[in-house]
Amino acid sequence: MTRSDGNPGKRRVVVSGMRPTGKLHLGHLLGTLRNWVSLQTQYDCHFFVADWHVLTTDYEKPSKIPGFVDEMVLDWLAAGLDPERCVIFRQSALLEHAELALLFGMFTPVPWLERNPTYKEQREQLADRDLSTYGFLGYPVLQAADILLYKADLVPVGVDQVPHVELTREIARRFNHLYGEVLPEPQALLSPTPRVPGTDGRKMSKSYGNAIYLDEEPDSIEKRLGKMATDPARVRRTDPGDPEICPAFNLHKVYCTPEEIDTVTVGCKTAGIGCLDCKKIMIKHVLADLAPHRERRAAIAARPGYARDVLEAGTARARIVAQRTMAEVRDAMGLAG
Ligand code: TRP
Ligand code: SF4
Repeated sequence: MTRSDGNPGKRRVVVSGMRPTGKLHLGHLLGTLRNWVSLQTQYDCHFFVADWHVLTTDYEKPSKIPGFVDEMVLDWLAAGLDPERCVIFRQSALLEHAELALLFGMFTPVPWLERNPTYKEQREQLADRDLSTYGFLGYPVLQAADILLYKADLVPVGVDQVPHVELTREIARRFNHLYGEVLPEPQALLSPTPRVPGTDGRKMSKSYGNAIYLDEEPDSIEKRLGKMATDPARVRRTDPGDPEICPAFNLHKVYCTPEEIDTVTVGCKTAGIGCLDCKKIMIKHVLADLAPHRERRAAIAARPGYARDVLEAGTARARIVAQRTMAEVRDAMGLAG
C-alpha cells in the first residue's frame, strides 16, 4: 500500500480512542479491546484516551475523569495492548489535537454537524444535561482531528461511530480541496464481534445497569448471570422453551462451543435441561475468560505509576507524528513562519 507521504511498504495506520466514562465491562473487552489487540500485530496502531471527548457531555462533573483514565489504561494493558507494539496516549496531553480541531472548525459547515445522526440521538438520550453547547456540536470535529493528525488509514469503531468517520472523510476532502493534498481519507473498520448482551439481554451498557465489569468478583458475576432472564414460556422446569427468544442464550452464542449450543438447544426445546443448568454452561466460559484478565489487571495495578509511564512514553511517540502533520497543515493554511 502506497501512502501519500511516499513511504511504500509502511504499515497502515490505525487510530482509535475510547472515552473514560467509567469502569470497562465485558462489552468493551469483546467488542473493542480484543479487536485492538489483534490489530496491533498488523498495523501501526495509535490508541488513545479521549478525555476531552468526555467533557463534551460531562463538563459539569469532571472530578471522576482522572480515576477513570487510570482504570481504563489498566484494562487496556490487562487485555493485551502492548506498549511495545502500539502507541498508547492521552488526548489532552497533545495540544495538537485541539489546534487541528480549531483549524477544521474554520471550514466545517455547521449544518454538517447538525445533521449528524449521533448528535441528534445523544441529545435525546442525555436529555438530563444541557448539550446545546459549542463543544458538543463540535464533537465530531475533534474526532476528525484525532484521526487525521495521525493520517489514519483505518479507524476501528462500532457501527454507532460510522457517521463520525464519514464526517472525518468529508473534512479531509474539504481540507485537501481548499489547501492541497495533505490528509488521506480514512476508512471505518467495524469490529468483527457481534453485539454483546447484558444481563437483561439488551446491549451491554453501563447506563442500562446490565453490565458485567472487568474487575467484578467471580461470585458476583456468577450470581448475576444466574439470574438472567430466559424464555418466559419456561415457567416450570417441564415447560419447553426456545433459545432464540431467550436473553441468556445471546451470551451462549458468544461463548459456547458448537457442541454446547446443540446440547442446549435440544435440551431447551424438549425441556430436557433446566434454565440454571443451561446458564451454568455459559457462565463457566465467562468466568474462565475473565479470570486471567483480572489477574493481569491486579498485577499491573500493583506496579504504581506503570500505567502513567506507559501514557507518558506513548505521548512522546505520538507527538512526533502529530507535530509533523501540524507543520504540514500550518504551512498549507498560511500559518507557517
Ligand atoms: N467517539 C468515540 C466513541 O465514543 C471515541 C473517539 C474519540 C474516537 N476520538 C476518536 C474513536 C477517534 C475513533 C477515532 O467511541
Ligand atoms: Fe434460555 Fe437455556 Fe432456559 Fe432455554 S434452557 S430458556 S436457552 S436459559
